[in-house]
Order: sequence, then C-alpha cells, then structure tokens
Amino acid sequence: MTERRKQAEPAFATTTVDVLTAIRERRSIRRYTAEPVSPEQINTILQAGLCAPTARNLRPFHFVVIRDREKLEKLAKGKIHARMLAGAACGLAICGDKQVEERMEHLYADCFAATQNILLAIHGLGLGGVWLGVTKDSEWYKLLRETLELPDHIEPTAVVALGHPAEERPTPHTWEESKIHWDKWTSG
Ligand SMILES: Cc1cc2nc3c(=O)[nH]c(=O)nc-3n(C[C@H](O)[C@H](O)[C@H](O)COP(=O)(O)O)c2cc1C
Repeated sequence: MTERRKQAEPAFATTTVDVLTAIRERRSIRRYTAEPVSPEQINTILQAGLCAPTARNLRPFHFVVIRDREKLEKLAKGKIHARMLAGAACGLAICGDKQVEERMEHLYADCFAATQNILLAIHGLGLGGVWLGVTKDSEWYKLLRETLELPDHIEPTAVVALGHPAEERPTPHTWEESKIHWDKWTSG
C-alpha cells in the first residue's frame, strides 16, 4: 500500500481581526494602491477559500489567480462593473469543476461559500476586495473562459478583485428587525 504523504503547506500570513468583526466591517473595496499583495497573503486568502463548506463535501472549487496585467486590463475592459480589475493587485476567479459536482445548484453554492470566505480573509488581512458577478453565457463569461483558458468542465462562478485599499468605507447600519422572524413568519 502506498503511503499518502501530506503535502508541504506554503507560508501563510496572520491576522488579529476576529471573525465577527471581519464579518461586520467588510465592505466592497473598488480602489487600490499600487502596493503588491504578498505571496503569504495570497496563500492565506486561497486557504480561506479552500476551507469553505461544500454541499456533498466534494470540494469542486478551483481558484485561478490572475496576476498578468494584460489579462487584468482585458477583463477590466470587458465589463463596466469589473473595471476596478485594471487597478487591482490581482484577481481571483472562483471556478467549479462540473465533473466533480454535477448538480449546478450545489456547484454554485460551494463556490459562493468559498467566495465569501475569500472576501472575509481579504478584509481580515487589512486588504480590500470586491465580488464580481459572472452571468452564465454573458460576453464577460466568454471572455473569462477564453482569457483564463478554462476547459469545458470548469465553470467560472465569480471573480474577486483585490489589493491594498485606497478607500475607506464605514460599516452601514445593518440590523433590520423586519428581516428577523422568530419561530414563524411574521410581517409588519
Ligand atoms: C453575486 C454578487 C455579484 C456582484 N457583482 C458585482 C460587480 O460585478 N461589480 C461590483 O462592483 N460589485 C459587485 N458586487 C458587490 C455588491 O455591489 C456589493 O456587495 C453591495 O453593493 C453591498 O456592498 P458591500 O459589499 O460593501 O456591503 C457583487 C456582489 C455579489 C454578492
């Protein structure tokens, strides 16, 4: 029997921000300084994505780290709401393997759980990021597939732009009593 070797883990960055504070404070950050993001920070962010829960524990997600400036600019030009990619330190495309998880509702849920983990890790590290939606079969979806050379079974589900923040966004008031229901649906 072949012995399974544990893969050597890369170096990770650390943070002192607690999880509830990170959840409360996180905002979409769309402006970045020119300072690069370190390999340890990127590993930590990827690790957060890899820790996400998945519906059938199939872990179908893959992460394409987009560092190439030409590719970032091409993707920024392809969709008005993704234009901040041109100034980002890097982009992360969160993709799902359809051969691993065939149920698309699970595939999307798994990838989106990873996307939120990634955004929280970015915030916890003192960086800024924003979730960029990918609409299936849109022109941007096709551009992503082509630019990142994705094979047919790999579905791009979201992109995150990230970098050192060049804007501050305060936490809004999010407690909305009308959205909370105890034991049964209540309205009014
Ligand atoms: C599924 C999804 C798709 C999104 N797509 C975009 C996008 O394409 N471009 C963008 O600038 N922000 C995008 N956002 C970020 C939202 O605009 C943002 O989360 C929302 O305005 C609330 O702001 P906050 O993240 O600062 O709390 C997306 C968020 C989600 C969850």
